[in-house]
Amino acid sequence: MAIQLVCAIAALTGLLFGFDTGIISGALLFIEKSFPLSILMKELIVSSVLVGAMLGSLSSGRLTDYYGRRKIILIISGMFIVGTLIASLATSVNAILFGRICIGIAIGIGSYTAPLYIAEVAPQEWRGGLVSLNQLAITIGIMCSYFINYAFTDVETSWRLMFAIGLLPAILLGIGMLFLPESPRWLAKQKKFDQARNTLIYLRHTTHIDSELTEIKNSLNLREAKISEIFAPWIRPVLFMGIALGFFQQVTGINTIIYYAPTIFQIAGFQDTSSSILATVGIGVVNVLATIFAVFYLDKIGRRKLLLTGLIGMGLSLIALSLAFQWDSTSLRTIAVLSTFTYVICFAFSLGAMLWLLVSEIFPLDVRGAAMSVAVFSCWLWNFVVSSTFLTLLHALGPTNTFMLYAIMCIVGFVYCYYKIPETKGVSLEKIEDNIRRGITVREIGQPVFVPQLSPETE
Ligand code: BGC
Repeated sequence: MAIQLVCAIAALTGLLFGFDTGIISGALLFIEKSFPLSILMKELIVSSVLVGAMLGSLSSGRLTDYYGRRKIILIISGMFIVGTLIASLATSVNAILFGRICIGIAIGIGSYTAPLYIAEVAPQEWRGGLVSLNQLAITIGIMCSYFINYAFTDVETSWRLMFAIGLLPAILLGIGMLFLPESPRWLAKQKKFDQARNTLIYLRHTTHIDSELTEIKNSLNLREAKISEIFAPWIRPVLFMGIALGFFQQVTGINTIIYYAPTIFQIAGFQDTSSSILATVGIGVVNVLATIFAVFYLDKIGRRKLLLTGLIGMGLSLIALSLAFQWDSTSLRTIAVLSTFTYVICFAFSLGAMLWLLVSEIFPLDVRGAAMSVAVFSCWLWNFVVSSTFLTLLHALGPTNTFMLYAIMCIVGFVYCYYKIPETKGVSLEKIEDNIRRGITVREIGQPVFVPQLSPETE
């Protein structure tokens, strides 16, 4: 099977992530017609997936290290199916909440397992692009949910159908994963070297895989890391970097636009709901297009250049949006649409693609699953904080100050990334790990220096 297909199947997890987080804003309007909802209930229904995702990303930290990446993705495809069935057949609000929490847990586990799996099966020269397929799938899922939100007419059962459409990618993911191999790096870690070798031959379509296998084995010969070591001094700097990336991806405000774009457009002067929803569909489309650009250029241009350029663009777009709310209403609408579009484009090729890529690259193999889950938990936690406080902030501070706040976070994020984020383009995961073990500063861990026999742990 072509490596692109292997990665695309695993990336269906991202599609479900995007679809299930994007569909709720539209579905909620119809759920209200079936069940009377208090404000609190509405907030609970919207945030149930995020709460589930936090639980999923944290509580299952060791699952992928223990059971293997492939098995876990198979299990979560089942959880997506069960959660979607419960939510779409629900006869009470509690059942919807329960189903959405199930889906959230699956998203939380999947949001690190899929990029992790892809990073471990991908050849190093394509790793950036292939891991970013997962982010591309997230954006396609969001775009599909926007189209569905826009297209669905006002029928009482609409929300059931809207949820139920999510069954399709979930079933495809389950069936697809049955045919995919386990990660060769995880197999090697389990000392199943023959299986690891056969899998590499299968994935690379060649028997010349000895140097890759040796490199994987070398990294295993290094000192075994205990799970508690994700907080050990030598891992702490990269763990902190993962947590910081999750923080900056969210506090720079992406989901205020992804989840609340129609509201923002209405405040900016769009009179009717359908034109603001149509503008939102436009956001979904540019998000996908800019992510396609990232998939193709990440491994050519490099992570740092894209990340830093994107952060500047995001900051400037937010400043324009913030200032526009002080100007007259004719230019406000145009600037609101243009600046949210440029903001989403810049996010897509920088923090959007980069968080999932970097957290799948920077952690040592022995603790990769657990450490990634901590970083991804940070992303879900801050997603929850930002999206559940946005409307309150808007009300309390007004749009100008609120968007300026997120712009300031972009500036802080730029400074952090400038000084701390390494360039990992074209460097193997084993080289990155070896550099971390040597205590090289995080900014430099992507430098291609690899002499395992000189590592202090192996002597
Ligand atoms: C983020 C999501 C966001 C999406 C937008 C992802 O990388 O984690 O919170 O909604 O990008 O494309």
